[in-house]
Amino acid sequence: MALDAKLGDTLNEQINRELYSAYLYLTFADYYEDRGLKGFANWYMVQVQEELAHAKILRRYLLDNDYQVKMLAIAQPDKTFSNDLEPLEAGLEHERYITDSINHCYQLASDAHDFRTMQLLDWFVKEQGEEETNASDMVKNMKLFGGDPKGLYDLDREYQARVFTAPTMPM
Ligand code: FEO
Repeated sequence: MALDAKLGDTLNEQINRELYSAYLYLTFADYYEDRGLKGFANWYMVQVQEELAHAKILRRYLLDNDYQVKMLAIAQPDKTFSNDLEPLEAGLEHERYITDSINHCYQLASDAHDFRTMQLLDWFVKEQGEEETNASDMVKNMKLFGGDPKGLYDLDREYQARVFTAPTMPM
């Protein structure tokens, strides 16, 4: 079954949103690197790899379905931060936005009775649940422990341990 044109274009735009996410999280890593919080910086550098993986999965899926992929311009992240909590809150807000965009893709696939694309998006729906939980936990941890130097040090050590594991292709 050929991919519905509107669904294809929207998935193509989702590639751009995932690449923007990577770009955004690079700026978060830069902020924490500058602050001397290398664990937080590491956590976001791993997240950059996750976002690139999401973009690559969507690209592969479109190519495999004979859709001509277009690499759109990536916007410049425009956030500036004045404390260590703000990037974490911006990350949670951003992931909620990405969840909405994945849900929109799912709605289009459902409307087109495209069960194959819905299967692909099932993986992304689950992934977004994890991404929102991670982002929310980081906000809560910072609020609970970040005001204390030892607490912040321990959090930074914890985030230093995060390593990237490439997701397996969901299709
Ligand atoms: Fe690819 Fe963080 O959503």
